[in-house]
Amino acid sequence: MPASPAPAATDDGLPAGRTATVTAVGHFLPERCLTNADLEGMVDTSDEWIQKRTGIRERRILRDPEKATSYMATRAAEELLDKRGLAAEELDAIVVGTVTPDMFYPSTACLVQDELGATGAFGYDVSAACSGFLYALGAGAGHVASGQCEKVLVIGADKMSSIVDYTDRSTCILFGDGAGAVLLEPSRDGHGLRDMHQRVDGSEWENLCQPGGGSRQPPTHQSLDRRDHFLKQNGRPVFKQAVQRMAEASLTVMQRNDLTPEDVDYLVPHQANRRIIEATAHQMGLPLEKAMMNIGEYGNTTAATLPLCLHDWEADLRKGDRLILTTFGGGYTWGAGLLTWAYDGTEGHAAGEQEEASAGR
Ligand code: COA
Repeated sequence: MPASPAPAATDDGLPAGRTATVTAVGHFLPERCLTNADLEGMVDTSDEWIQKRTGIRERRILRDPEKATSYMATRAAEELLDKRGLAAEELDAIVVGTVTPDMFYPSTACLVQDELGATGAFGYDVSAACSGFLYALGAGAGHVASGQCEKVLVIGADKMSSIVDYTDRSTCILFGDGAGAVLLEPSRDGHGLRDMHQRVDGSEWENLCQPGGGSRQPPTHQSLDRRDHFLKQNGRPVFKQAVQRMAEASLTVMQRNDLTPEDVDYLVPHQANRRIIEATAHQMGLPLEKAMMNIGEYGNTTAATLPLCLHDWEADLRKGDRLILTTFGGGYTWGAGLLTWAYDGTEGHAAGEQEEASAGR
C-alpha cells in the first residue's frame, strides 16, 4: 500500500503529494531495571545463556501496580509535545499500538487523550502484537495523507511485565516495559512515510498468544490455574518466521523503491532477538552497523521497540536519511515501511516552514 497517492516528482526527485512525516519523537522507560542476574534468582537460567541466545542484558519493568500502559504512553506523548512546542489540544488523533491495554475498553488511546487533555482528538488502539507500532504508523499516516488530520500522535507502548509468566524461563527473559511516540504531520517535499508493506497469517497463531481472558476463554479459576492469562510462545518457529518475514518485507520495500543496500541509511528492526536482527540485516545485504539495536538494554518491549530506536538514534539522524522499519509479531503480523527522515538531530522539525519552503520552489 503506498502511503500517499501517486504524486508528481519534485526537483529533488521526491514525490510532491501530501505525505505524512515524523516531526518529533518521545519516549518513556521505567526506572526499575531487571537484569539477567536478577532472573538467575527467579528461574533456572544464566546471564551467559541469555546474552548468547538473545543479546539481552537487562530490561525495564514498571513495578508500580497502580500504573499501566497508558501511564507510559502519556509520558512519552508529553515529552514529544514538549519537544515540538505543541499543546495537547492541537492533536487531531491518537493511535496506540499495544497488546497490553489498561483494559479491553475503553481503549488506551481514550485514557491517553484524557490524561493529556487532547480535547480535539479522536483515537483508537491497534492490536498487532510486536507489529503494533508499524501498523499504527500506517494508520496514522493514512489520516494525514488523506487530508483528514494535520497532527497525529502515534504511540507504541506495552507493559509486558503484566502478561509475562515469571516462572517460564523461555519467555520471561525476553520482554521489558516501555513506550515510544512519534508525531505525524503533513509534508509536501516528499519526506515521511513513502511506502508500507504489511501482511498477517493467522494459521500458526498458537505459536505466540495469550490464550485466556478473551471471549473464547473468559477468565475462570481453571484458566487461572492453567496460567492461560500469560503470554505463551513456541520460540523456534517464531524465530524462523521472524527472520524470513522481516527480510522478505524489507526487500519488497527496497525493490519497489529501487533502493540498493547502499541507499538505505538505517534499518529500524523490531527488537526481539539480536540473532534475528543480524540474520535480517544479512539477508538484506546491509552491514550490521546500519541496524539500530538497543535490545541489550531494554529487551523486547513489543510495540515500543521501533519508536524507542527512533528516540535513541534521533540525534544521529539527518534530513533525507532513508530508514527501513520492519517488524514481526504474534498473529503472525509483519511488515516493513520506508520512512525518509525530515529533520536534523534532536531539534524537532518545523513542518510549516518546510511546506512554505516547498511551496515557494
Ligand atoms: N535459560 C537457559 N536455558 C533455556 C532458557 C533459558 N532462559 N530458555 C530455554 N532454554 C533451554 C531449553 O529448555 C532448551 O533446552 P533442551 O535442549 O534441554 O530442551 C534449550 O535451551 C534450547 O531451547 P530453544 O527454545 O531451542 O532455544 P532457542 O535457541 O530457540 O532460543 C528463544 C529460545 C526464545 C530465545 C528463541 O527461540 C527466540 O528468540 N525466538 C523468537 C522470540 C521472539 O522473537 N518472540 C517475540 C515475537 S517477535
